[in-house]
Amino acid sequence: MSIEPSGSRFEGQIRRLMASTWSWGGRANRAGRDALSRGRCVDAVELACMEAEADPANHTVGAGGFPDASGRVSLDAAIMERPDRHGAVACVRRTVHPIRLARAVMEKSNCRLLVGTDADDFAQELGWASDLNLSEKAKRAYQDFRAGRASFPLANLEEQYEKLKVDEPSTHDTIGVIAWTQGGMAAGTSTSGLAFKRPGRVGDSPIVGAGFYCDPQVGACVCTGRGELLLGVCAAHLAVESMRRGERPTDSARHVIERLADTHELGPDDQAAVLVVASSGECGSASVMKGYTTSMLWEDTSGAWHERRAEANFVLRPEVYCAE
Ligand code: GLY
Repeated sequence: MSIEPSGSRFEGQIRRLMASTWSWGGRANRAGRDALSRGRCVDAVELACMEAEADPANHTVGAGGFPDASGRVSLDAAIMERPDRHGAVACVRRTVHPIRLARAVMEKSNCRLLVGTDADDFAQELGWASDLNLSEKAKRAYQDFRAGRASFPLANLEEQYEKLKVDEPSTHDTIGVIAWTQGGMAAGTSTSGLAFKRPGRVGDSPIVGAGFYCDPQVGACVCTGRGELLLGVCAAHLAVESMRRGERPTDSARHVIERLADTHELGPDDQAAVLVVASSGECGSASVMKGYTTSMLWEDTSGAWHERRAEANFVLRPEVYCAE
């Protein structure tokens, strides 16, 4: 599939849409398509995220994710239908599908966010607990990290990792999915977070308003990239509220990245990106660096399905490339 310069416009009328972050969002979208055809946006988001979580070659989502600085994988995920209906889990270490657990938080508990071993216990209660074993590639990457780390103080592991050249171009890419039909939408995120992070570190992905937000009256936003940047501007909420004030999705996405740049000293490796879908089905995306793509799957009013991979509509630093 070719990458097109813009992902915001569709030819003719669309009936349903899946939009996901990064190139592997294409496979994720296809995993959600049947559910979307039945008008089940939450199911579509869950299935799409589960597809990425189950991929052992994905080192930033699910059990194939790179571990934290202690050598253990921890996962974050969230799902949202509307302001009074969302659920998330953070720092879970004993479930392969954190998105399913996040949905259970939304549907089967009176909480919105469960964390750590107590969230793992909830997975156990539901019969979903399983060990997260490091993949061979994750083990090798961790050994590289440990070898390089020897010369750095423990207190700054996360920061120092940026200076190490572990054989993996991207260390923090979240799957973010938005499913849209005429009359409903849902959003979800799933990630193993920043590779070799300080144990217990949680980024934007399970934090409502930061990594994800969905208000079907207005639209939805999901985020990817360095969580510490996205948290500071409540990125997903900012995008949706910008649309509420009348901005188009492309402008609301740009607005988030410009706010990041206005409020943070961006380092040379700082990538952060957003994907926005308005309640009309119109999309927008923006990133700090070049290299961020989104994947779209949509059904037109004749019933035909189409796919597209698109570069961000706005890139703050187009001269700087961040490989996927
Ligand atoms: N965006 C994912 C993270 O920073 O953990």
